[in-house]
Amino acid sequence: MNAKNDNLEDLKLFYALIDDSNEMIFITNMQTYQVTYANKIACKTLGYNLNDMRKLLVPQFRKPFNDEETYKQFLQKLENKKTLNAYTVLKTKNNEDIHVETSSKMVIIDGVKYNIAIVRNVQSWIEKEKIKDSILAQQTKMASMGEMIENITHQWKQPLSIISAMTTLLISKIKRKKIEETYLLDSLDTLKTTSEHMNKTIDSFKTFFNPSNKIVSISIKDLLSQAIELTGASLLANKITLVCKEPNASWYIHGIKNDLIQALINIINNAKDALKEQKNLTEKLIFIEVEAHKDDFTIEIKDNAGGIQGDMEKLFDSHYTTKANSGGTGIGLYMTKQIVQSHFNGDIVVKNKEYVYKKHKCKGASFLLKIPQN
Ligand SMILES: Nc1ncnc2c1ncn2[C@@H]1O[C@H](COP(=O)(O)OP(=O)(O)OP(=O)(O)O)[C@@H](O)[C@H]1O
Ligand SMILES: [Mg+2]
Repeated sequence: MNAKNDNLEDLKLFYALIDDSNEMIFITNMQTYQVTYANKIACKTLGYNLNDMRKLLVPQFRKPFNDEETYKQFLQKLENKKTLNAYTVLKTKNNEDIHVETSSKMVIIDGVKYNIAIVRNVQSWIEKEKIKDSILAQQTKMASMGEMIENITHQWKQPLSIISAMTTLLISKIKRKKIEETYLLDSLDTLKTTSEHMNKTIDSFKTFFNPSNKIVSISIKDLLSQAIELTGASLLANKITLVCKEPNASWYIHGIKNDLIQALINIINNAKDALKEQKNLTEKLIFIEVEAHKDDFTIEIKDNAGGIQGDMEKLFDSHYTTKANSGGTGIGLYMTKQIVQSHFNGDIVVKNKEYVYKKHKCKGASFLLKIPQN
């Protein structure tokens, strides 16, 4: 009798202790999956009282385990390792998701296996990360806005000079009353197509800057031609040749189109920056090559600017830049990796490569994007 009372006392003390914790604590039976105890903050966060909590089985509120098989596998792992850390999602009574970090420990009491899980709510941290990433995304867009304006300027130079030369000529002909109707109509026609072309350029820049989060089916061919349209003029102005074999028109991927265009532009702009530094190159080159594989597409962008000189390991870290003096922010590749990994379930790898083009030895950075075929 006394021993039993002692046990009860111990248990009460133990529960009082864990109720005081700021972290959620769940004690669950590993055989029945039932909740034995959940501390105050755990009950409060999930929106249940302790009695209701005790009626629940773990797979009913721990998200990836809504099928029992996965939960069994987790418990097996816990049995082998005794302690286990994981990131997971809990479901509240109101069906809201809470991202958590869990640290589980197996204990055996009277032959029964229990999982004591200390669970930290990381929801606010994740939200902060999301906000941080969206600020960074905006910053990259703003940074590329400057480059874009430079692009538009280049792209408009030629049509603007056509318009200006043509109108000057027309004015002088009209003044001298030396104008024939067919000549006038021809000239007006050229002015019309030229201004239409200018309109088209500004439209493609406008769509690019439109924030759109729509997931759509994207033709890789379109994707490349838009990225090239947005960067082409400034490559030309820097005497850089882009070598790109047109991808098959039937190659499609899924995702947010502008994001991937942004990712490609970031890599192309880096290649451009690196090539601008090379004063002795006979031909400045950027290659874009797309290949279809069994499960994914690869897009390789490489240049002949000599390769990455800095720290390869840190290349994709936010704020890593070797261009601090010329206004580099070091966000470009960080964002690119985020986009490829989080929005497209893909991956990006970088290498310095040596290769031969038109019998010339070339050396430069190669960025390989892998995007799953849906
Ligand atoms: N094609 C390349 N050749 C050589 N070095 C490169 C190449 N691409 C990237 N790098 C290196 O990677 C660094 C990080 O690139 P990232 O695009 O993240 O930032 P940044 O270009 O320095 O700045 P920002 O993109 O904000 O202008 C660059 O500073 C440069 O040192
Ligand atoms: Mg960059």
